[in-house]
Amino acid sequence: MKKIYIAGCGGMLGEAFYRQFSTEYDLKCTDKDVNVNWLSFLDFRDLDAYRKDVHAFKPDYLFHLGAYTDLEFCELNADDTYNTNTLSVENAVYIANELGIPLLYISTAGIFDGKKELYDDWDVPNPLGVYARSKYMGERYVVEHANRYLVCRAGWMMGSGPSKDKKFIQKLMKQIKDGKKELFIVDDKDGTPTYTQDFAKNVKLLLENEVWGLYNMVCGGQTSRKEVASYLLELLGLENKISIKSVTSEYFSKEYFAMRPPNERLINKKLDLRGLNIMRDWKIALKEYLEDYYQGYLD
Ligand SMILES: NC(=O)c1ccc[n+]([C@@H]2O[C@H](COP(=O)([O-])OP(=O)(O)OC[C@H]3O[C@@H](n4cnc5c(N)ncnc54)[C@H](OP(=O)(O)O)[C@@H]3O)[C@@H](O)[C@H]2O)c1
Repeated sequence: MKKIYIAGCGGMLGEAFYRQFSTEYDLKCTDKDVNVNWLSFLDFRDLDAYRKDVHAFKPDYLFHLGAYTDLEFCELNADDTYNTNTLSVENAVYIANELGIPLLYISTAGIFDGKKELYDDWDVPNPLGVYARSKYMGERYVVEHANRYLVCRAGWMMGSGPSKDKKFIQKLMKQIKDGKKELFIVDDKDGTPTYTQDFAKNVKLLLENEVWGLYNMVCGGQTSRKEVASYLLELLGLENKISIKSVTSEYFSKEYFAMRPPNERLINKKLDLRGLNIMRDWKIALKEYLEDYYQGYLD
């Protein structure tokens, strides 16, 4: 079995990577939040500890998944964010190059400024806030310095269910569970959802084909926060019981004060051209996500 060291594997995406890779690869999964029994502790900001742990495992690949993903926290804690989201990626590049192994880094659709309608893999990013800048600088470091790499850009992440999903779907599911009869949804944000399980499978396909490089990797179909919320209610059979109140981002500006692009829709141009795009339509993925992770949640 080939070996993979996965750093920052305790979150939404880490759960999917563990699921998709653990039967065919020998994994060492670490995080600073050791929340399940297949994780051990590693803070990847600590270069010596990171280097020692990875070297000792002698992996065939290094996956650097973790980051701070709360945009408001990042705005308020810029230095910690650059240490965590950018310098730790430099650490990962040093280690992967020392061992002569490929590195996987996860970037984000949020590095664009939203002035275009659709971004392909070759569009030039223009990050707006601390989180976006920290991720883009990580991306650039990998592209400019890693000997062999995959940089995969995700969009609006959904996955891992109530215990780990920190994003839009779980925020809505929580409000529904709490009995809310009206959901306030912004009508000025467009993007592309990304199901963590599809994402991990598509990374596996790239890895096994050894087609190194930078890829957009989002679900099919461009959409908006409002359409995702409407479709979620429809899938739950609650469209006649819960209503959606359209608001602009200004409505949430105290709670969500970090700058976000009005549009972060990606298209998987390079995956399409290589014939390796197995990301499904977001509606199919959302349906499966609810069936797999939310059975009984609203009972
Ligand atoms: N979530 C999204 O919508 C989204 C969209 C596009 C791209 N991405 C990227 O996808 C990747 C995975 O994100 P995710 O959605 O799985 O986020 P997540 O659920 O927040 O998981 C990230 C994990 O990284 C850990 N981590 C943070 N700092 C660390 C450190 N110094 N050492 C070790 N572990 C550390 C976190 O621990 P703590 O919880 O203790 O901080 C957390 O367990 C990230 O690179 C993110 O930027 C995410």
